[in-house]
Amino acid sequence: MVCRYGDDLRSMVNQVKQYTKEGNVANYIPALSLADPADVAVSIYDGKDTCFSEGNHYQLFTLQSISKVLTLALALMDHGREIVFSKVGMEPTGDPFNSISKLESNIPSKPLNPMINAGALAVSSLIKGNSNEGKLKRLLNLVRELSGNNQININKEVAKSEFESANLNRALSYFMKQHGIITSDVDELLDFYTKQCAIEVNCEDLAKIGYALAHQGEHPSDKYSVIPAEIARLVKTFMVTCGMYNASGEFAIRVGIPAKSGVSGGIVGAVPGSIGIGIYGPALDEKGNSIAGMKLLELLASRYHLSIF
Ligand code: DON
Repeated sequence: MVCRYGDDLRSMVNQVKQYTKEGNVANYIPALSLADPADVAVSIYDGKDTCFSEGNHYQLFTLQSISKVLTLALALMDHGREIVFSKVGMEPTGDPFNSISKLESNIPSKPLNPMINAGALAVSSLIKGNSNEGKLKRLLNLVRELSGNNQININKEVAKSEFESANLNRALSYFMKQHGIITSDVDELLDFYTKQCAIEVNCEDLAKIGYALAHQGEHPSDKYSVIPAEIARLVKTFMVTCGMYNASGEFAIRVGIPAKSGVSGGIVGAVPGSIGIGIYGPALDEKGNSIAGMKLLELLASRYHLSIF
């Protein structure tokens, strides 16, 4: 399909750089405000030896909401669909990712989907393990396998910064606890959730995770099954319908690639049966998605006909 990513990527990254000035880095998690808003980087993985990359693709950043895709996969592997979807719904939302309003207006207070914060907190509370340490070890192992990178770890400063400022997520959790959606201790859950969000990767890691999801959950180079194909299909579907929050509809029209964003500025893209894409651009639009990253995906999708529609 493609053999000239190198030159194309350079020109596309240069084209989208101007948009970084129109966005802002997240500052509601204080540690994220240290990112350089002018950064834009991309990696593409096609299953061969190395990634095609442009920009500062070795820059580390935290997964933030991209982790929601991976905890969902783990929870589904732990419990199966029936139990997981008794706690969280399957419908997209037009509300912001951290909204509490539907929890109150929809009784029983089941969060709409696993990609918004309330849904992700409910899913995280299901992960099996005797302690948070054990649960995180299982999640880290999954991320390391999907990316083929055993060095991946948690950025403890970012986790601490979010734990100390996570009042909204605490409110969502207490609300859900009151309504029986979660049963765990809220601070324990917040400790796990903020650490899952603080798993640190670079663009190449993300591109390989995207590739694994695009290829039925197989290890990016060794091709054994890490996630069952049916679960990889299911999480990719959530990426299409809910991955870019209340911008998912417009993103499906403009780009058409299963993708998931995070407030650190990361986006993972999984083109079914084809490439994985990892993007970093910490300047965000008002919905919390990387502003240059979205433009870059639009250019890539149009140049290489990547839309699944
Ligand atoms: O819970 C939070 O608010 C963050 N740890 C993650 C939110 C996020 O990444 C939303 N994405 N665009």
